[in-house]
Amino acid sequence: DRPVNVGMLGCGNVGAAFAEFLLDRAPDIQEISGIDLTLKRIAVRDAGKKRSGLLAPLITDDVRAITDADDIDVVVEVMSGIEPAHAYVLAALRAGKSVVTANKELIAKHGPELYEAADASGVDLFFETAAVASVPILRVLRESFLGEDITSVLGIVNGTSNYMLTRMSEEGLGYSEALRQAQEEGYAEPDPTNDVTGADSASKLAILASLAFKRAIAVDDVEREGIDKLERDDFDIAARFGYVIKSIAKAEVFGAAGSGEREIGVQVFPALVDKSHPLANVRHTYNAVFLKGCAAGDQMFYGHGAGRLPSASALLGDLVTAADHLRRGTHRRVPLGSSAVLRPTERLA
Ligand code: HSE
Repeated sequence: DRPVNVGMLGCGNVGAAFAEFLLDRAPDIQEISGIDLTLKRIAVRDAGKKRSGLLAPLITDDVRAITDADDIDVVVEVMSGIEPAHAYVLAALRAGKSVVTANKELIAKHGPELYEAADASGVDLFFETAAVASVPILRVLRESFLGEDITSVLGIVNGTSNYMLTRMSEEGLGYSEALRQAQEEGYAEPDPTNDVTGADSASKLAILASLAFKRAIAVDDVEREGIDKLERDDFDIAARFGYVIKSIAKAEVFGAAGSGEREIGVQVFPALVDKSHPLANVRHTYNAVFLKGCAAGDQMFYGHGAGRLPSASALLGDLVTAADHLRRGTHRRVPLGSSAVLRPTERLA
């Protein structure tokens, strides 16, 4: 098999971890699958910055040497932020390159436009890292459950707020102290407001719900309430009645399949979770997604939703699949239809 040439956009914390993981795993991947992954080039804003010895020779500040170069097959985007990542990813897709991205804001905001561009070029667009990083839930929704009728998605999808809630309820930590310690865990967004107000979870829920229900759901469709208004008494009262407080990302579909009257509700809010529910035991920075499928029944997916290595793992999984599709001359479109309408959130019980 000819090598699959990989170009990267960005080389921050996650990007550098991924590049090193790829270089480390490539020989084994080739041996067990025949897929020969070659990391060709990494475009960064500041090419003068010091990089590890393995990566330094690959660095360029020329973005077009990734998005438009004939010798790049797959682009891995790890820049974060919507622009210019959006413009670069679109350019790469239009130039016929498969794209793997970790960029949750980008997918939550521009997903449908990018899915269409990928499909028009006959290439892949994978974004497993964008929601619950190392847990391969998007792949399951896109592939294993493409034909399943998913009726609800309940998730704990923000590690920072879950860490805070765990420490606040189990150890009586105050809000500011819990936030400070959560930031030390290294999962917090550059602006942790997005973690505690539910904005980060809303982006991830928009992505998860779109793939679960096969209908484009935008981040602005998600109603949200953060954990920033909780008080000490709330935790005590919850515990007394056998509940724990969790920030839950919830998407539900109402109405029977094929009835033509289905509605979808999407919201993020601090919820009372019964101590016996599997989500009640998702503690600290762990994430989990609990699904209900009409035929599959209840399923739970659990693991690390952020961090350098869990993100590197998810990126590599996507890259291997994109490379495999390239050698087979195929691609996997994002399965979206328009079978259900969004239900105004105030009507949710
Ligand atoms: N700030 C996020 C979290 C990181 O705490 O889960 C991954 O999106």
